Amino acid sequence: MWEAQWERGDPLEGGAQGRPYLARRRSSSGEYTHILKELRNQSDKGRRRRMSFEVSALQVLDHPRVAKLADSNTQLWDSEEPLYVVMDRVAGRNVAEVRRAVEHVALDKAVTFALRLLEAVEYCHSRGVVHRDIKPENVVLVGDDWENPVLIDFGLSFNKGLLEQHATRESEAMGNKFLVLPEQASDRGAKREPATDVTQCAGMLYYAIVGRAPFVLLDQSGKAPHEREEYRQAVARLEPATEKRLSQFFAASFPYPLAARIQSAQAAASALRSVIAAGGSMADWNFAQELEQLKELPKHVGAEAFLKSSTGLLNNFETICAGTVSKIEISLQSAWTFRSGTLTKDLQGCVITFRWSMASRKDQKQKLDCLIKGALVGTEFVATYSGTEFFRTAFSVGGLDDAFRLEVEKRTIAALQEFLGRAT
Ligand SMILES: Nc1ncnc2c1ncn2[C@@H]1O[C@H](COP(=O)(O)OP(=O)(O)O)[C@@H](O)[C@H]1O
Ligand SMILES: [Mg+2]
Repeated sequence: MWEAQWERGDPLEGGAQGRPYLARRRSSSGEYTHILKELRNQSDKGRRRRMSFEVSALQVLDHPRVAKLADSNTQLWDSEEPLYVVMDRVAGRNVAEVRRAVEHVALDKAVTFALRLLEAVEYCHSRGVVHRDIKPENVVLVGDDWENPVLIDFGLSFNKGLLEQHATRESEAMGNKFLVLPEQASDRGAKREPATDVTQCAGMLYYAIVGRAPFVLLDQSGKAPHEREEYRQAVARLEPATEKRLSQFFAASFPYPLAARIQSAQAAASALRSVIAAGGSMADWNFAQELEQLKELPKHVGAEAFLKSSTGLLNNFETICAGTVSKIEISLQSAWTFRSGTLTKDLQGCVITFRWSMASRKDQKQKLDCLIKGALVGTEFVATYSGTEFFRTAFSVGGLDDAFRLEVEKRTIAALQEFLGRAT
């Protein structure tokens, strides 16, 4: 137990996973130099495991911009022992607390803040750790100074060094309400990509400047964060050339598909540096070009391309699913009733769903429900049939072809055979 070594002070605000308190060593009677976090739900195995991941990540990290581990007992995660973590205290408030207290933050301060945060992130990535939950509550400013941020709370991080079986299941929901990212929202997203952290850092810069979370990459009226009214107002006082470069930086950071965004912390930092360094119109032109190169795209899927083709993809998806169901319906209609399919789309999450069901005419309780789901995951379109992946293809503007139709038909027949085998 922590009581042997540590003395607890006042509780801190927040903490969804853990209960944070000020703390100090029993041997010292001075300042509270540490933070003690007790797990909130001690009996939840998943959360116990998560806390042990947090500690595993911290154990491989040693950097001035990353919180330092002092003590923990999470190696006992598979027991009944109450778990705790002790960290060195960063003397200051978190970004949310500091930002709420001011009207605005000067651009060069905000950019320096983001650059230093990107340094921390680049270091983590070099050690195989992706944080995945960078948000105002998880960055503390030493002495409330924007130019001195420290990254904390690795409770959702992914550590390449851990065995696969110990890592987050791909299907586990991730992310936060500060910035909902499609790769974290979808069922089987690309949840271990360093680029996610880079996007969240851009979100932090946005937050410092605007004072509001970006929330989503595309809002209900199809606007990216930097296209919204609150952003326009916040940057109105900037020099036009600077404002333009800043907006270009956000445009390169916030495309909807992961692969279309700036990929590495290093690339983001180099782009950001030119936001405040350069001046004049010639530099603008170079900056735009530079940004394009900095995206380092493996396979470029532009956000525009996705939006343009999503109507095609949706129609295509619906036609193929509904076509398959109606073929079966025609041949089986004497014995079975069908509830024809419905399509739902969640463009924000890049997920489309087709649902249908059939029931025996003799006994309505004998019923089969089918759910076909398609999601854009990174640069790929991935489809699942009642939860099992059955189709994966590089996302293309052309939409889905006969290969997808064939797989849907095969899967549907297989589902029916299995069901009829059980039902009759
Ligand atoms: N090492 C630290 N130094 C200073 N403040 C901290 C430290 N760790 C946590 N805090 C404060 O406590 C809050 C909750 O801690 P956090 O580690 O984010 O817990 P949770 O996993 O429950 O979100 C943070 O938002 C921050 O304000
Ligand atoms: Mg937190």
